Amino acid sequence: MGKLTNEDIFESQFYWMHIEDTSYLNTALTIERLHPFFSDLINYKVLEIGPGDNAINKYYNCKEYITAVANYPNDGLSILRKQDDKSLVVVSFGVIDDCILCSNKNKLMKQYLEEMVIEIKRVMNPFSIIIGLDAEKYMSVADIKAMDRWTKMGGIYFQK
Ligand SMILES: C[S@@+](CC[C@H](N)C(=O)[O-])C[C@H]1O[C@@H](n2cnc3c(N)ncnc32)[C@H](O)[C@@H]1O
Repeated sequence: MGKLTNEDIFESQFYWMHIEDTSYLNTALTIERLHPFFSDLINYKVLEIGPGDNAINKYYNCKEYITAVANYPNDGLSILRKQDDKSLVVVSFGVIDDCILCSNKNKLMKQYLEEMVIEIKRVMNPFSIIIGLDAEKYMSVADIKAMDRWTKMGGIYFQK
């Protein structure tokens, strides 16, 4: 199966959830083992996927900061596709989640999430911070898990 076309992505945007009242970043900010990586953002260009009303750069300075939001052509997959290999730190809180990207609803949505994860792994360097209810279902087990008891929540992933 080929990659999603721009028309496919355009169609996908009507499914994505704009839930802003649950902040996964607020939870992540309380996790001490993540703090050194948040502090390190000052040294990197950072792409935040789905900041909603709560962007990481309100709390931690980044050398350079760009975002992807839930509207084509500024959505996660489209913005990731424009980045060079191993070129920035990707952070995302509460987006790699079947309920947000509606990945259980149809094949197109599932492919969108899978392609987004492939792109995150391609562009991230030297690490990414990915927290989401289904992060480890799609990204694999985090190198540093955010929370041991939330087994699929993700955490820190290193470029290999
Ligand atoms: C649960 S909210 C989390 C907001 C924020 N990251 C936080 O933790 O407070 C999920 C966010 O993902 C965004 N989103 C949904 N689909 C997206 C997509 N395809 N690309 C980028 N952002 C998306 C939504 O608009 C929403 O802002």
